Amino acid sequence: MKLFDVYPRFDVPLVRGKDVHVWDAAGRRYLDCYGGHAVISIGHAHPRFVRRIGEQLEQLPFYSNAFPNGLQEEYAARLEAICGYPDHRIFFCNSGAEANENALKLASFHTGRRSVLAFTGAFHGRTSGAIAVTDNPAIAAPYNAGHEVVFVRLNDFEALEAAFASHDFAAAIIEGIQGVAGIREVEAEFMRRLRSLASAHGALLILDEVQSGFGRSGWFFAHQEFGIDADIVTMAKGMGNGFPVAGVLIAPSIAASHGMLGTTFGGGQLACAAALSVVEVLDAESLQASAAEVGAALMAELASIDGVSQVRGRGLMIGFDAAVPAAALRAALIRDHAILTGGGGGPATVRLLPPLTFTRAHAAELAAAIAAALHTMNTQGATE
Ligand SMILES: Cc1ncc(COP(=O)(O)O)c(C=O)c1O
Repeated sequence: MKLFDVYPRFDVPLVRGKDVHVWDAAGRRYLDCYGGHAVISIGHAHPRFVRRIGEQLEQLPFYSNAFPNGLQEEYAARLEAICGYPDHRIFFCNSGAEANENALKLASFHTGRRSVLAFTGAFHGRTSGAIAVTDNPAIAAPYNAGHEVVFVRLNDFEALEAAFASHDFAAAIIEGIQGVAGIREVEAEFMRRLRSLASAHGALLILDEVQSGFGRSGWFFAHQEFGIDADIVTMAKGMGNGFPVAGVLIAPSIAASHGMLGTTFGGGQLACAAALSVVEVLDAESLQASAAEVGAALMAELASIDGVSQVRGRGLMIGFDAAVPAAALRAALIRDHAILTGGGGGPATVRLLPPLTFTRAHAAELAAAIAAALHTMNTQGATE
């Protein structure tokens, strides 16, 4: 049997990870500035993550949601302590797309409306409902599954007002910081205006924190920087540090009939054990504050490199444009410096999404490697 074609792949089979490093089958060590696509929050194979999962594996790896699972309540209490949202309820599921599907479904059920407002550059997943609110021609296509979707240009106030004036939206869905678009920030005033328009028009505000959540931006959820609350928050990636677990935080006012949301695997014992280890370590090691500090230092270093422009982002969710094709720069970083980075958002864009245990020393190593790789590529280009 062959594999279904999913992503283009670098030819580096990874077999081991520890903290901010991964190793390939030949034993070469790489600095992981990609975090398996923003997934590794507390570091590869963190001892508490390994211990929690190991103990749960021996105890009871899984049982159905038809029976109580004390770990879910324990997690809800830990999460509330670290992110707020005391009155919201949590629904556990398995992936970012699934979290967004459930959020959109709740919004339609609650409001009795079908229209959804989404934003240019948005990425919310690849399943039917999630792809319908995704604005990326490389992955989206008219596979819409029942929502009428209106796209408004990100940070365009006039278009935002006009959209609300002409539609009865069930919801607006927006990322705390756009990730797949190449790290695009929402202006604070735009986010606040969106919040107030949604409230005034009876639409729910869904904050997709799948990529930007769990301390990555230096805030627990990126939208918390703007002093607003969401009606629904979706989360995944960093929540499980590599174990598939996702969640939907749902405001108490949102109507939902019993059994409207459901899942076989969501919130299983192993998933809860993994997710618990993440919030425990984020707290114990102050990783959110560290992400803010190390990220700011890294952004300053990047901005001073010749051939790097448009450095953007928050905390350890950083994008920049390179003066050379990003694919070539990323390949050079792997080949010559043993450093993994991410792409996306355009041919010049490099994305940096390292584990939140990334230190200033790692940031300096990365910045020096980028400067050296760009220098080599420029001199080679000039002599060719
Ligand atoms: C903001 C955002 N939402 C949703 C998703 C989809 O998550 P998943 O791949 O777990 O379905 C992603 C994945 O990159 C994402 O970045």
